[in-house]
Amino acid sequence: MKSALITGITGQDGGHLAKLLHEKGYDVYGIIRGQHNPKRLITEVEFPYVKLIEADLTDQSSLIRAMNTAKPDEVYNLAAVSHVGYSFKNPQLTSDVTGKGVLNILEAIRLSGGEKTVRFYQASTSEMYGGLEYNRPENGYTEDAVFHPRSPYGVAKLYAHWIALNYRESYDMHISCGILFNHEGPRRGIEFVTRKVSNAVARIELGKQEVLELGNMDAKRDWGYAGDYVEGMWRMLQQDKPGDYVLATGETHSVREFVELAFKEIDITIEWRGEAEREEGVDADSGKVLVKINPEFYRPAEVDLLLGNPSKAEKKLGWSRKVDFSDLVKMMVQHDLELEKSKL
Ligand code: NAP
Ligand code: GDD
Repeated sequence: MKSALITGITGQDGGHLAKLLHEKGYDVYGIIRGQHNPKRLITEVEFPYVKLIEADLTDQSSLIRAMNTAKPDEVYNLAAVSHVGYSFKNPQLTSDVTGKGVLNILEAIRLSGGEKTVRFYQASTSEMYGGLEYNRPENGYTEDAVFHPRSPYGVAKLYAHWIALNYRESYDMHISCGILFNHEGPRRGIEFVTRKVSNAVARIELGKQEVLELGNMDAKRDWGYAGDYVEGMWRMLQQDKPGDYVLATGETHSVREFVELAFKEIDITIEWRGEAEREEGVDADSGKVLVKINPEFYRPAEVDLLLGNPSKAEKKLGWSRKVDFSDLVKMMVQHDLELEKSKL
């Protein structure tokens, strides 16, 4: 039986990956942090087969202990301060966890004697590209496109990416970086735009909420389903040779399109009126204002457009996304309708 250690077990991808690895017969360990983590009980109930180890990406001794306990064949580093907006408000914490935390875990692998045996996955991100016009390839970002991060999060992830590559080259370690474009689903945190929208739509339908407030609705993202993406992570670590792979859908959609499709799920057509901060989304039938702009959700620097090119992963890993954009929106709204009904 193979053993795997997942950091970020309480996060969106951690849950999907734990389930996948358990189904594949792995002994699954997960790192949980904090003296009082309310997600601990939820994780214990939902994933009873995961053995939890208390550790923190900023505490190297705890990571060495985790390595010695789990004795993993594979380590998936999913832990991070992962919210781009939050990273502007807590830039140093973001650097410590999302950036330097990766160095801590790589050193923990070496110090616990796993340098030649452990395979390591680093959760790199499309945020490293930055979406600027000058570095935007026509057919989408590939593994060798130019990086230009636009947030403390993106910068920290770029450090993490390069230190992972450096350890691969310096110590011949089996380290792969997945450059993943946005992936969503019912497990997505409510602070991210897709889940914020699907949850608000469900609550509006059930009369629990009046209006959805958003920031920049013209940003475009390459949105896939998280369940598809963890399969790609696993495939990367099954290759004889480590490498870097973009996982994406090859399509890009605006936040505005996501909102329109989500309201369609509850038979509401949204019409837009007004401009910039005074723009509103109105129910075409009733004339009720359902969407407003709140500049509080704007970011000091924005990534306007992300579009990934997953050709390498498709060819070398035999990976492709299964869920498309409209099915993703449907899945999320339907899930939140059930969830919110169960709380009535
Ligand atoms: P997520 O839901 O925000 O989960 C982040 C996880 O990191 C949580 O389990 C959190 O634990 C843990 N964590 C935070 N600080 C920690 C620390 N100091 N020590 C140990 N654990 C810590 O993120 P996700 O969406 O699953 O994404 C997984 C990874 O992929 C992240 O690294 C993210 O940056 C990257 N990524 C995500 C996407 C995407 O679209 N989802 C795309 C590209 C890359 P707590 O529960 O204790 O807070
Ligand atoms: N969160 C949020 N909340 N975003 C909003 C809102 C809002 O109310 N209104 C508009 N947006 C816009 C953001 O400005 C951004 O352009 C876009 O919606 C997506 O925001 P998020 O859902 O927060 O995701 P992200 O693209 O910034 O970051 C996610 O994807 C990255 C991969 O590209 C995160 O999962 C990162 O961890 C990940 O690396």
